[in-house]
Amino acid sequence: MTRNGTQVVVAPSILAAKIGILEQEVASVEKAGADWLHVDVMDGTFVPPITFGANVVESLKAKSALFLDVHLMVVQPERHFQPFKDAGADRLIIHQETCPHLHRSLSEIRSMGMKNGVAINPGTPVEAIHDVLDVCDLVLIMSVNPGWGGQPFIQSSLGKIRQLVSHCDAIGIPRPVVEVDGGINDATGALCRAAGATALVAGSYIFGAPDRVDAIRRLRG
Ligand code: DX5
Ligand code: ZN
Repeated sequence: MTRNGTQVVVAPSILAAKIGILEQEVASVEKAGADWLHVDVMDGTFVPPITFGANVVESLKAKSALFLDVHLMVVQPERHFQPFKDAGADRLIIHQETCPHLHRSLSEIRSMGMKNGVAINPGTPVEAIHDVLDVCDLVLIMSVNPGWGGQPFIQSSLGKIRQLVSHCDAIGIPRPVVEVDGGINDATGALCRAAGATALVAGSYIFGAPDRVDAIRRLRG
């Protein structure tokens, strides 16, 4: 449960899935109760690794009914909006650090008929996205430095979650979905929920769990 008593969204990150059997991995978390699939797109420039492109999103869309939460860790993400839209992405999350025209880019994603989201790195303050909250469906608080799964949770992320929700309440705007990504397990997930998070991304915790049903249930709290 979230701080407001609603159900928290659980989004397994396929970065931690066995890619050779991706279809079975996706079916397994879908059956285990996942709400969304989180797809980490990395370009080798904004972050060192290279991962998935729009072709992977297209094949996920064909195999799964889950909402596709696509996290673009790429420079100039605007160049890729149309291919990901055509592939079936339900949401595109772009990084504040990659977008000089963030307000326009978020609006563009919405106008194309997708949900949007803005991500901030651990080193980026929440204030950096205050002025785009009016065009924003989701804020992704990165609780690790992006690039790899399996890193430890950065505790200062909790203060950023609290700061974001109190800012929205203080100025009287609806809270966006508050998603947290990196180092999420049953313990850090509970801390995030208590701070005001409403969606949790988890890679290694879910795909590495002996019982994925139980792992997802624990993340919901
Ligand atoms: C990191 C990615 C995360 C990653 C999380 O750059 O954005 O989505 O898959 O992995 P875990 O849950 O293992 O920290
Ligand atoms: Zn991610």
